[in-house]
Amino acid sequence: MNIKHKIIEIIKKKIIKKKYFHFKNIILQKNVNPLYKHDYQINNLINISKKNKQPIQKNAKKIVKILKKSKIFKKIEISGKIFINIYIKKKWIEKKINKFFENKNIYKRNNKKKIKVILDYSSPNIAKEMHVGHLRSTIIGDSMSRIMDFLGYHVIRHNHIGDWGLQFGMIISYLKMKKKLKNIKKFSIKNLEKAYLKSKKICKENKKFYKKSKKITKKLQYKNKYYYSIWKKIVLISIKENNKIYRLLNIKLNNKNIMGESSYKKMLPDIIKDLLKKKIAIKKSKSIIVPLKNYKNRLGKMMAVIIQKKNKSFLYSTIDLACIKYRCKFLNAKKIFYYVDSRQSQYFKQIFMIAKKAKYITKNINVKHHMFGMMLSKTNKPFQTRSGNTIKLILLIKKSLKKSEKIIKIKNPTISNKKLSKLSKIIGIGALKYADLSKNRKKNYIFNWKKMINFEGNTSLYIQYAFSRIQSILKKSNIQLKKLKNSIKIYKKYEKNICIKILQFEETIKEAAKHGYPHLICKYLYELSTIFSKFYEKYSILNLKKKKKIFSRLKISFLTAKILKKGLKLLGIKTISNL
Ligand code: ARG
Repeated sequence: MNIKHKIIEIIKKKIIKKKYFHFKNIILQKNVNPLYKHDYQINNLINISKKNKQPIQKNAKKIVKILKKSKIFKKIEISGKIFINIYIKKKWIEKKINKFFENKNIYKRNNKKKIKVILDYSSPNIAKEMHVGHLRSTIIGDSMSRIMDFLGYHVIRHNHIGDWGLQFGMIISYLKMKKKLKNIKKFSIKNLEKAYLKSKKICKENKKFYKKSKKITKKLQYKNKYYYSIWKKIVLISIKENNKIYRLLNIKLNNKNIMGESSYKKMLPDIIKDLLKKKIAIKKSKSIIVPLKNYKNRLGKMMAVIIQKKNKSFLYSTIDLACIKYRCKFLNAKKIFYYVDSRQSQYFKQIFMIAKKAKYITKNINVKHHMFGMMLSKTNKPFQTRSGNTIKLILLIKKSLKKSEKIIKIKNPTISNKKLSKLSKIIGIGALKYADLSKNRKKNYIFNWKKMINFEGNTSLYIQYAFSRIQSILKKSNIQLKKLKNSIKIYKKYEKNICIKILQFEETIKEAAKHGYPHLICKYLYELSTIFSKFYEKYSILNLKKKKKIFSRLKISFLTAKILKKGLKLLGIKTISNL
């Protein structure tokens, strides 16, 4: 059920028929506040008038006239001269919510024309432990992959791990120097990271070492067998470690989703040839570059992207160009979303531009960089250790688990250790994810433990609590709802609001999918939980004389819980029935 779509269709049909004017969009104005009487509002009349150059009043009257003809609405009114308030008939909502209750699926997906969408997320660099900077890409990408899957897309998850750069040459030459290459099999991720950091330091101080590292990197890239076998071992150690984090965070990524930088190695020489042939790239002092006419640096000089170095080795950019070609031409993707932080926004703009010029990305393919801001500490600084190092992701996760254990123990002091560990995983990981997903991804946000683990406000605990409360009500009633013949009836305004909100699930998910905004789902779940809680505080569900009323309210409660559970699932958050 998609009410918004329905309203838009009603207006569009008439408008297209009579060619009244451009119609852009209906802006949703459904509020949690039950004092709001209207159900939807059109609030972009000014925009419409700018477009068709007709007075606002004239446009408004025309829309009202169209809407009034439909049987769905109780009342349509112009408000404050620039809004149109829409009131939906109670009967219509009752009909729709009962139908929704009967349906087995929340959303009927159209599987016939499966459209391929590739999501590039998590994508950490190899030989280093994952740190807090990887959290956002990992969980926003994961949630988006669930959302697109729910909507019926053919979802392809790509973990574009950084496994083909200079860091390998550096690590290998360092281990060679220390005569530790033979031990590589026994290395832990911590050993690898140490070697990486040390080699990085030496590279800065010692030109010879740096040159050697570059040489080894090139040899590796041109498939030197010995280096290749070491490289493989390093990659395996890292992947194993990352998988542990994915399991803990309940992320849908495994070895099958790994399509790292090295996957495109065979394509790289051809990319260079192709771009040279198409006159997109040029040779410049032995390197190959793509000049960008529209980009100027601070000194006003034209910018360029290097795609092959003097020593013939390839770069991050060359790999991304090959990768786009592979995704578009070979996999036939129709949408590609990148979950990478906003510092790479200019980079992606340039890469997409080159890929379009080279016709790897064609008109019907939607390629987007779903960028995100940084996680900041209380003092508005990047979230780091005191000494300025990045915080390991595993530490953040462990701290969330500890904090949630504490909370659970306060609520339930006699809980067994086994249960405590299971519950704290659901609560702690859920809270961590929700705190992040509930923010608009484009902005930086301040990470706050207190706000994260809180039963008040737009938090996962608030929603989990509403959910478990409904579970208790349903359990207490001891009624098998699916077998009930009685239908849902709306007695109070609150019930109407809850039912409309439930019916708005689909339009919310579609909106989140369109913009890559899981926070819209969080907002929605928070609002649904809030109206339900308000309703429950004011009215009884089980203590009523009329059986019919009890059944109706139980059904509404059941649907609310079902939606809360599904919504959280799309965010990658598990639910528990009793807190
Ligand atoms: N490994 C990169 C980094 O840590 C992110 C890769 C993102 N994906 C891509 N196709 N470039 O910055």
